[in-house]
Amino acid sequence: MRTAVRLLASGGRPPAVKTLKVDLGRRSYEIHVGQGLVDSASEYVTGTPSSVAVIADEAVDERYGDRLSRSLSSVGEVHRILVPSTETAKSWSQAGEILSRLAELKVRRNDVIVTFGGGVASDLGGFAASVYQRGVSLIHIPTTLLGQVDAAIGGKTGVNLPAGKNLAGTFYQPSAVLCDVSVLKSLPSRQLRSGMAEVVKYGFCYDSGILDVVHNQTQAIESSEPSVMEDLVGRCADIKARVVAQDETDNSARIILNYGHTFGHALEAAGEYELWLHGEAISLGMMFAANLARVMGLLDEEGVEVHRRTLDRVGLPVQGQFDPKEVVGAWLIDKKFQDTQRWVLLQGLQNPVVRSDVTTTHIEEALPAVQLSSPMRGTP
Ligand code: GLY
Repeated sequence: MRTAVRLLASGGRPPAVKTLKVDLGRRSYEIHVGQGLVDSASEYVTGTPSSVAVIADEAVDERYGDRLSRSLSSVGEVHRILVPSTETAKSWSQAGEILSRLAELKVRRNDVIVTFGGGVASDLGGFAASVYQRGVSLIHIPTTLLGQVDAAIGGKTGVNLPAGKNLAGTFYQPSAVLCDVSVLKSLPSRQLRSGMAEVVKYGFCYDSGILDVVHNQTQAIESSEPSVMEDLVGRCADIKARVVAQDETDNSARIILNYGHTFGHALEAAGEYELWLHGEAISLGMMFAANLARVMGLLDEEGVEVHRRTLDRVGLPVQGQFDPKEVVGAWLIDKKFQDTQRWVLLQGLQNPVVRSDVTTTHIEEALPAVQLSSPMRGTP
């Protein structure tokens, strides 16, 4: 089996694949960005597995599962474990079910687990891979834009607990990430827009070239034109790979990737993870962060306007209706919370800083810019 994989590996990969490295010493791995990677997934399997367990989003499996299985069947027996794509599936009990299923299927330590879907599949499947038999080789094949530019890169795995999102999890790096941009064509447009929030985040924080692509290629992005998506996913994955290589466990540089997420996560929680998609909440979170930076004298009006224009351009909300008590209440009332809260802000575009001196007054001054009294925005 090993020989077969090796022989194919020399000539079977799709021709125009961009390969990026996440440089983490012995845990280094490559991210491959291109078209047709679902059909050539077996080329990226290393070692001598006798079976592959695919942990797949059920909708993604229905559409692409047979193609992936055909490719992986040259590696060994292929098992398909299906999970719902909803955030509620990222539960302790669902993780337990996956682990029991892996054991029933007699998946062994030298076999391979492949996750196939969006952030739920990679977080949940990555978590299962990290604890099953103390760690099984893992390949992520993210099929959402959010997964390709963020969730599948960097080794964060997790499940939600009743007390909060991602409260249990591990850092567990995959052995490869395959970003097949051709599957983005079948993403619902709301999901595509949600992923664009993370793309734009890289533009605001690191690379103005991403903002240029967003403004100049809006139509091509809306229709998931593969060459444009390859360019955007490649740029973002490259930034994330470098940030993770610098700060794998999220203590310094990686914190910047949470731009817009402090407010965004609070908004998601207030909407019980149903009202707002992640990217929609992060869009408002970035608008809030831009306005916070403005009231603190870090970002000028034009910087805020660039946020508004860019997010609006890709159809993301720049204002929304929410109950401020639910979203920012704790930051206004709890002094201890205020003093420990770290905010990622921009001291000018592409110049992120982490600040812990945001006050109640700053928050109160920034809020009106993102708050709509009506109508409700969040279920476009
Ligand atoms: N999603 C942010 C990170 O991976 O650190």
